[in-house]
Amino acid sequence: MTAPRTIGIGILGFGTVGQGVWKHLHEKQADLESRLGVRLDLRKASVRDLKKKRAVRIAAAKLTKNPQEIVDDPKVHVVCELIGGTAKARELTLRALRLGKVVVSANKALLCEHGPEIFRAVRQHGGQFLFEASVAGGIPIIKAIREGLVANRFELIVGILNGTCNHILTRMGEDGLSFADALKEAQLLGYAEADPTLDVDGIDAFHKASILAWLAHGKWAPASRTLVEGIRKIGPADIDFARRFGLALKHLAVIRRDFKAGWMTVGVYPSLVPSRDILARVSGVNNGITLRGDVVGATTLTGRGAGGDATASAVIGDIVDAIAALTGAIPQALSPEALAARERNGRAIRMASIDEIVSPFYLRLSLLDKAGVSEGVYRIFSKHKVSIARVIQYEHPNQGRGTVTLSTYPVSERRMSAVLTELRRLKTVLEEPVVLRIFSPES
Ligand code: NDP
Ligand code: HSE
Repeated sequence: MTAPRTIGIGILGFGTVGQGVWKHLHEKQADLESRLGVRLDLRKASVRDLKKKRAVRIAAAKLTKNPQEIVDDPKVHVVCELIGGTAKARELTLRALRLGKVVVSANKALLCEHGPEIFRAVRQHGGQFLFEASVAGGIPIIKAIREGLVANRFELIVGILNGTCNHILTRMGEDGLSFADALKEAQLLGYAEADPTLDVDGIDAFHKASILAWLAHGKWAPASRTLVEGIRKIGPADIDFARRFGLALKHLAVIRRDFKAGWMTVGVYPSLVPSRDILARVSGVNNGITLRGDVVGATTLTGRGAGGDATASAVIGDIVDAIAALTGAIPQALSPEALAARERNGRAIRMASIDEIVSPFYLRLSLLDKAGVSEGVYRIFSKHKVSIARVIQYEHPNQGRGTVTLSTYPVSERRMSAVLTELRRLKTVLEEPVVLRIFSPES
């Protein structure tokens, strides 16, 4: 048997995103290696300031001040450009591409401003440029447009594409924070760009909208023909007006295409969105994108749009795709070897019994209308240590019966089943109880 091939990965920039990628590549290394049938060699990461304190631990020998050293390292096959900006990032990206390497980038400004030059270098030198993380953080929107929704033509793409703006508008609206304090918070959480005017003035969302327009329609939207507005002018009175009239204030990117007339428009601006629209409920750092396709209809993707972890998820997805293309491995756990490895891992997992599943419950009971009946029912709950959270009683005059609906705190199926067994035995319970589980992400 031949030894698995080793793929070298270099990270340019060890800030919010770079550290997220390093951390999660380390944590998932064994799993990724078994899925792809390759060895991963996390070679080095580059920074400007070697003395800066970092949230993610990295051996001193793995850090360099010289990003070119990483790009030129013949053992680095995949270069992740996570520096930001368009000067140094462009220079390093083109250098890596001219060496025929794969570049994985989260840099929407770079792609938007230098896309044609970058893809020319890809074509000329046979490398790859992957950019899932450049739009909507952890949401795989690029893959969705390129692959899953490939059958569609999109007359409308509308989305919340800037996590910082959405965080600010949410915190101002829901918690009464000032614009300045909400922005400061977004910066501390690692959502904002190094220069946050890019976020609050709508430029970052414009970069992302332009990428989506190009991906969906093959045309870059020039800034001169794009309506670009930010959120600086938004105040509490605007948010209050929206709330009173069933609207939500969101910073939207809107890409419209008329296939018959042959035009496209792109705009990014604060907008009042009807609260029944799914995008009105996308809050905090989350992004959401609705694509109206001629085949699929309207599809919405939502998820975290910024932050080191969510963005690392998209970067690592691209790294895996790149490795699959480099080695001929079938991506994502679909090769027979990868499936076998998954099954080996699966054998170590104990499948819990249904009795152990815990959730809050809802019950509807039809009870005889007689004094003391409810007490008898509650005694059973108490005997099995099932705590009741809420109760509503409905009387049905002259029918001799009443309805009780109630919810419980989280409890195991075993205990709820014991309660039900006893309830069914009561003569005062007139019908089979209706039982529903209350979904809770925590249990
Ligand atoms: P950070 O500012 O946190 O990190 C940038 C890193 O690059 C730092 O390690 C910095 O070094 C290094 N660096 C900066 N400028 C230079 C330079 N001129 N030469 C060499 N190294 C340099 O940025 P983020 O991690 O937030 O963002 C990185 C990229 O990812 C950007 O393109 C951004 O738009 C994009 N992005 C960010 C997201 C986020 O949520 N933060 C989400 C999606 C995309 P040092 O640490 O020593 O200062
Ligand atoms: N600053 C960007 C945002 C990062 O807040 O959306 C993600 O691209």
